[in-house]
Amino acid sequence: MSLLKEPDLGTPAVVSQTTVSVEVDGHPVTVPAGTSVMRAAALSGIDIPKLCATDSLEAFGSCRLCLVEVDGKPGTPASCTTPVVDGMKVRTQTPRLEKLRQGIMELYISDHPLDCLTCSANGDCELQDMSGVVGLRQVRYGYDGDNHLDAPTDSSNPYFDFEASKCIACSRCVRACDEIQGTFALTIEGRGFESKVSAGGMSFMDSECVSCGACVQACPTATLQEKSVVQLGMPTRSVITTCAYCGVGCSFKAELRGDELVRMVPYKDGGANEGHSCVKGRFAFGYATHRDRVLSPMIRESIADEWRVVDWDTAISYTASKLREVQERYGVGSIGGITSSRTTNEEVYVVQKMVRAAFGNNNVDTCARVCHSPTGYGLKQTFGTSAGTQDFKSVAQADVIVVIGANPTDGHPVFASRMKRRLREGAKLVVVDPRRIDLVRSPHIQAEHHLQLAPGTNVAVVNAMAHVAVTEGLTDQSFVDERCEGYDEWAEFIALPENSPEAMEPITGVPATELRAAARLYATARNAAIYYGLGVTEHSQGSTMVMGMANLAMATGNIGRDGVGINPLRGQNNVQGSCDMGSFPHELPGYRHVSDDAVRAVFENLWGRTILSEPGLRIPNMFDAAIDGSFRALFLQGEDLAQSDPNTQHVTAALTAMDLVVVQDLFLNETAKFAHVFLPGTSFLEKDGTFTNAERRINRVRPVMAPATGKHEWQVACEIAQAMGYPMHYDHPREIMDEIAALTPTFAGVSFDKLDRLGSVQWPCNDKAPEGTPIMHVDGFVRGKGHFVPTTFVPTDERSTRKYPLILTTGRILSQYNVGAQTRRTANVMWHEEDMLEIHPHDAEQRGVRDGDWVKLDSRSGGTALRARITDRVAPGVVYTTFHHPETQANVVTTEFSDWATNCPEYKVTAVQVSPSNGPSDWQREYAEQAEHSRRIAKVAAE
Ligand code: SF4
Ligand code: SF4
Ligand code: SF4
Ligand code: FES
Repeated sequence: MSLLKEPDLGTPAVVSQTTVSVEVDGHPVTVPAGTSVMRAAALSGIDIPKLCATDSLEAFGSCRLCLVEVDGKPGTPASCTTPVVDGMKVRTQTPRLEKLRQGIMELYISDHPLDCLTCSANGDCELQDMSGVVGLRQVRYGYDGDNHLDAPTDSSNPYFDFEASKCIACSRCVRACDEIQGTFALTIEGRGFESKVSAGGMSFMDSECVSCGACVQACPTATLQEKSVVQLGMPTRSVITTCAYCGVGCSFKAELRGDELVRMVPYKDGGANEGHSCVKGRFAFGYATHRDRVLSPMIRESIADEWRVVDWDTAISYTASKLREVQERYGVGSIGGITSSRTTNEEVYVVQKMVRAAFGNNNVDTCARVCHSPTGYGLKQTFGTSAGTQDFKSVAQADVIVVIGANPTDGHPVFASRMKRRLREGAKLVVVDPRRIDLVRSPHIQAEHHLQLAPGTNVAVVNAMAHVAVTEGLTDQSFVDERCEGYDEWAEFIALPENSPEAMEPITGVPATELRAAARLYATARNAAIYYGLGVTEHSQGSTMVMGMANLAMATGNIGRDGVGINPLRGQNNVQGSCDMGSFPHELPGYRHVSDDAVRAVFENLWGRTILSEPGLRIPNMFDAAIDGSFRALFLQGEDLAQSDPNTQHVTAALTAMDLVVVQDLFLNETAKFAHVFLPGTSFLEKDGTFTNAERRINRVRPVMAPATGKHEWQVACEIAQAMGYPMHYDHPREIMDEIAALTPTFAGVSFDKLDRLGSVQWPCNDKAPEGTPIMHVDGFVRGKGHFVPTTFVPTDERSTRKYPLILTTGRILSQYNVGAQTRRTANVMWHEEDMLEIHPHDAEQRGVRDGDWVKLDSRSGGTALRARITDRVAPGVVYTTFHHPETQANVVTTEFSDWATNCPEYKVTAVQVSPSNGPSDWQREYAEQAEHSRRIAKVAAE
C-alpha cells in the first residue's frame, strides 16, 4: 500500500437529527445542522485552505486562512467557525479571498525558516502545501525585523523534537493535548507576536506530557516531529495494523521507507482509537527489531547445557519426538500447552488444536488464567457471555462512571482519554481503589467519590452498594421483572443487615456515608457504567466480584444500551481472543464445554480426532503435577511463566522438574532458563492474523515485514502436530479464520475479506448480526434471563499479621508493559528505570525509611529488595509496586492463593513486611549476572 493519507474535513462531524442544504461554489450539499461551512465544502469535494483547523479538533478560528464569502453577508467569515444555515450560498474562490489568503501566508512565511528542501517534513507539511494552494509567489517582508528563527529546539523527549523556530502558533498541539489526550500539558504563552507554545515553562520531558503523540499528529508543520522521521526520512508506504500492547487494540498505520519502519501513526478509522494513541503503541515499537531477539531455533538436552543453534526441521522433529517419548513413558496426559494473549487468534487456535488433536488431551490453558479468567466465569454465569457488554464509544453516553480496580490512564490510556472527555462534559466519577490513581484528581476532573477500600474487600463494597440500591428502593423493577431471574432470593440476601455499608465499614475501611452516596449516585443515574480491571479479578473472590458487579448492574437496569454495562479493561492485546479461541482446558472455541457431546462431535468431525470429554489441567494443576512427576512436558507460547506467575519458587521448581520445556518467544526470557527447546517467535510487525480487543472487536494484524525467523508461529504449531502424526496444514491464516468461523457460532460471519471491507467487527458476528454487535444483551440476555447470583463476602485467607503487617498490591505504569520484555527494550525506560515501592509516610517513618532508600520486601513466600517512594497515594497499611522489571520480581513475594472458581492468582493481596536494606538481595545480584550471561547467548544465537 502506498502512503495512505486520510482525508481531513477540517472540523469534526456533527450529530443532528435535522439537516440543512447549502450551495458551495454552486455545488449543492446537505449536511447535519451545526456542520461548519468548511466541512460542508469538503463534503462537496471543495477543500478550503486551512492551517489551524483539522477534523480531530474543535474549530478555533485563529489563522484566518479559510475565509469565505457568503451571499448577502458582509465581510469574509472564517469557514471553520461558521456553521451552515439552510439556503446559504458560499463562495470559496474569489479574487478578494485569494488576495487576503496570500497576504496571510506571506506573514507566516516571513517568520519561517525557508529550508523546505532540507526540512524533515518536506512533502508532509501543511504550511508548504498551503503556500502552493493560495498561489503565494513572493514574500515582501524580509527577515530583518523581529522573528522567531532563533527559537531553541527542545529535543528532551526520546521520540519527538519540538523545533520552535518552525512554529506558526496555530495551537493545534495545545488543543490536541487538551481535547484528545486530556493531559493539558501545553499552553500558548504570551500574546500576539510574543505568543509561543510552552510545556508549562519546562522541557517536554520534565513537563506533564505523557508522550501520547497527539500534538505531533496534529502539528501541521515540522515543529513537532518524530525523531525517526528526522533520522530516516519521510515514509513512502503504509500498512494498517493493530497495536500489540494492551487490550484497547488501537489501529495504526505502520509507515515505512523501503523495508524500514519509520513511524506508527494512529489510524483515524480505527474503531477502538479513532486516531489516538499512547506512548507504547505510538513510539515503543523498537523491541520488535531489537538485537536481543533470538532468530534461530535452539535446543539442548539439559538446562545445564549451552544452547545449540539448529535449523527449523531439526527443532521441530526434536520437539515432536521428545513429546511423543514423554507420552509413551508417562501417558497421554503427561504433556500440555499454554497459549499466549500476545499472539493472534489464529496462532492461539492452532496451538489449542495441536494440544487437543495431536497431543490427544485437553491440557491447554492460557495466560488469561492469571488475569481475566474470573471475567469469563462471572459474566457467563450472570449474562451468558464471557465478555464485556459495550463498545468503547458507549462511554460517551454514560452519566455516572464507576472505575473499580483499574487505572485506565496508565493501563488503558487511549480509552482513558475517551473517558476523561466524557467526565469533562459533566459525567460523574466514582473510583473504587486502594490507591489514589490519577483519575481521582486530574486536570478538569475530580471524582465525586474515591472509595479507598482495603485490598481484598471488593465484594464487601459491591454488596454494600447493592444493599443501598435494594433497601432504598433504587432498583429498576420493570427491568428486573422482564429480563432477569433469581432476583427475589438475591434481594433477600443483599438486604441482610450484614451487607449494609455500616456493617462493612470496619472491614472495607470505606466510610458508610460515602459508600451510600456513591451507591445512590450509581443507582439513580440515567446511564451508569462500570469499568474494571485486574484489581477486581486477581483476588480469591475475583469471580464473585464480577458476579457482584453484574448483579448491581442488572438490579439498576444498567445493561443493554449505550452508556451502561459491565466492562472489563483487558490487559494484553489479545486476552479476549485467546479466551475466545478455546484456550481453557474445559472449553472449546466459543466457550463451549468439552463435556457437551454435540459440540465435541462438530470438532471431531472436522478435525478427524476424538476429543476427550473431561477438562484438562489448568496452569496451577500443571505445576503441581510437574512437581508430583505426572506432568512432564510443556509447550509454552509467548508467555514468561517464571516471571509473570505467582510464587516464583513454586513455578521454577515445576519447570525444573519437567523433561521437556519448549519456549516460543521473541527473547530468551526468564522461563527460557528452564527450557530445552527455544523456538523463535514473530513480532506483531511480522504477524498476519487478528487480535480481539476488550470490546470484542476483531482487528486485522497485517504483516509489515516478513518473519525474521523465516517461519510464522502458526506454521510452527502445525509442523509439530504434523511431526507427531496429526495432519494439520494451512496455506494462509485466512484459512484458519475460516475454520474458526465454521466451528464457532459467534464467529460464523467473520472472514479476512469482511475485516478488510469493514475495518473491524465485534463478535457475535453471524447471520443475526452480519456486521457485528457493538452492544450486548440489548433485547435479552445471551443466556435468556439475566441471572442474579448471591455473592457472600468471604475474606481472603491472606491476612496481615504481626510478622507481615502490611498489605502489598500491584499495578502497571503507563510507559511500561507487564513484565517489561517489550518496553524495557525501548526508550520508555527513561520514564521508569526501576520498580519502586510506594509506602505511606506513616508506615515509612515507623520503619525509619526515607524516600529513595532501599527496602526489603518480605512475605511468607519470599523476599526481594527495591527502593521506596514515600507517598500518601496509598493508605496507611498498604504498599504498592509495579512488576515491570525482572530484577525486582514482585512475584517472588506473591502467594499461591487464587480465585475459588478459576484459580486466577491473588496478586493484589499479599501480607508483607518492609524493612530497611543496604541494596539488592543476594538472588537479585545473582540474577543480574545470569541475565548478562543470557544476553551473551542471545547475541551468539542471533549471529
Ligand atoms: S505528547 Fe501528548 S501529552 Fe505530550 S504534549 Fe503532546 S499531546 Fe500532550
Ligand atoms: S507546534 Fe505545531 S501545532 Fe503547535 S502551535 Fe506550533 S505549528 Fe501549531
Ligand atoms: S492504548 Fe493500548 S492498544 Fe492503544 S496504543 Fe496504547 S498500548 Fe497500544
Ligand atoms: S482554518 Fe479556519 S481560521 Fe484557521
